[in-house]
Amino acid sequence: MSMPANEYAFFDLQPERGADLDELLAGFRLADKKVSPKFFYDEAGSKLFDEITQLDEYYLTRTEMKLFDEYHREIVDALQVGARESCLVEYGSGSSAKVRKLLDTLRPSAYMPVDISTEHLQAAARALHQSYPWLHVYPTCADFTQPFELPAVADGFVRTGFFPGSSVGNFEPEEAVTFLANVSRTLGSGARFLIGVDLKKDVDVLEAAYNDPDGVTARFNLNLLSHLNARYGADFEVSAFEHRASYNEELGCIQMFLISLRAQTVTLSGEHFSFGAGERIHTENSYKYAPEEFSRLARQSGFDLTRVWIDERGWFGVFLLEVRGG
Ligand code: AVI
Repeated sequence: MSMPANEYAFFDLQPERGADLDELLAGFRLADKKVSPKFFYDEAGSKLFDEITQLDEYYLTRTEMKLFDEYHREIVDALQVGARESCLVEYGSGSSAKVRKLLDTLRPSAYMPVDISTEHLQAAARALHQSYPWLHVYPTCADFTQPFELPAVADGFVRTGFFPGSSVGNFEPEEAVTFLANVSRTLGSGARFLIGVDLKKDVDVLEAAYNDPDGVTARFNLNLLSHLNARYGADFEVSAFEHRASYNEELGCIQMFLISLRAQTVTLSGEHFSFGAGERIHTENSYKYAPEEFSRLARQSGFDLTRVWIDERGWFGVFLLEVRGG
């Protein structure tokens, strides 16, 4: 494949605003109101999430980064795809902070960050394009929680998937299977997929990570309402809600809610939704897996488990999967 050095192209596969609105309205019509966690990520939400990753209590990012550092050589050796040109596809790339070291050593021909937050995605992708004169950079704005085809520019490359940060935990387990099965189809037989997964652990550690004393997680959760106001014309009074997060032992996930502090009515797209005092909007589940639970999920989705790296406290796992049939 001959191409000019260091191409940059942006692909916009962002869903129609109308489809998102239908999904939002359906969630608010339920007896137990809920909003998908993908609505956290407007520009402000993406920045707040970056802040969360720096918090002392939020061990996930730090633990995963340490694993990437410690086992860097082994991971890169296991990811190497031989002489063919490869494209590293990162799902939910955000600020692309974790990928740099991998790019340095793996040296793929192309990098395709996929994220829903357009401006954040493009700013990060442009910075990478400048830092890596040998790398084609193809930022793709897409809702990766729904099936989508990679832009044709990725055809002809061997594709390697990267999904750090335990974002897979924000899917319900059966949705995670659907997502992973889509990824395995998209990457193609024999392709590798490197994925970070938060593991089950002491409840106090888990709950502290989602209830930081500086209130960054609370602002992140509440910002969802500001996002709905700005993008979908809702009229939430943000100060009339508060953040709550706790571990649900039975489900094996942290659950986040926004609690209405008083009786109130909110309008979204001409439809009125009433809230009682104390009524909740469910905004996120963050599943924590035992290593064998996640391996089972991956196998169900068409992957074989090649290797897993786990930190000494057993808090976080980096799993290397291979699409079955290769
Ligand atoms: C993106 N995702 C893996 C985060 C998590 O931990 O579930 C989102 C988050 N929610 C609250 N804090 C961080």
